[in-house]
Amino acid sequence: MIAYPEIQKRVQQEMDSVVGRDRLPRATVKRTRQLDGEEVPRGLSDKDKLPFTSAVLLEIQRIVSTNPLGIPHSCGDDTIIDGYYIPKGSVVVSNLWAVHHDPDTCKNPDQFNPDRFLDKDRCLREREGLIPFSTGRRICIGENLAKMELYIFFTHLLHHFTFKKPHDSKSFSLKGVTGIQHSPGPFLIEVINRD
Ligand code: HEM
Repeated sequence: MIAYPEIQKRVQQEMDSVVGRDRLPRATVKRTRQLDGEEVPRGLSDKDKLPFTSAVLLEIQRIVSTNPLGIPHSCGDDTIIDGYYIPKGSVVVSNLWAVHHDPDTCKNPDQFNPDRFLDKDRCLREREGLIPFSTGRRICIGENLAKMELYIFFTHLLHHFTFKKPHDSKSFSLKGVTGIQHSPGPFLIEVINRD
């Protein structure tokens, strides 16, 4: 967000207009509770009403690809995919980074553009080419927990604070450090209370 202050501002404007400043964005659709024998709804999730915020989170996951490669798996049987022969027992590693940066499915893949996840009516449109948690039978088991955490951390932090690059700090790179995970390099931030 310190690299894209105008995007940060749009997220905050969306949250301010949908959620307001008196409470934090809600994460889950809470079930009803019993009150004097009557079922009373407890507060619905705001997520569906925050399409731009959700699109920013999807675009961060796409462009960063925190897990650039899947976990190595072994091919269970002799297999042919798209004419490629993969013998039984081969170690197969999926390249999630390549999927996320494929110019055939993602226009200008190196450009940070959350709007690519919104349709003409500004509604969220998930894309098949976005697979940060991999795909198939061994897809990340923590996917739903992780999505919830990303949403809560991101919205709550931006609801409370604005993040900026300190004006006298060195320029920073978005290239990151690649290992098993793709992590950010060092950078300084200035945190400004919004209230
Ligand atoms: C943004 C956060 C996360 C990302 C991007 C992520 C991504 C991934 C990816 C790409 C895989 C490899 C899937 C494959 O083998 O094809 C994986 C596997 C796995 N993840 Fe995550 N993960 C995240 C958070 C979590 C969390 C919060 C948990 C646990 C609470 C978790 C637990 C696991 C486990 C247990 C596996 C191995 C699954 C298996 O081999 O059957 N992950 N994750």
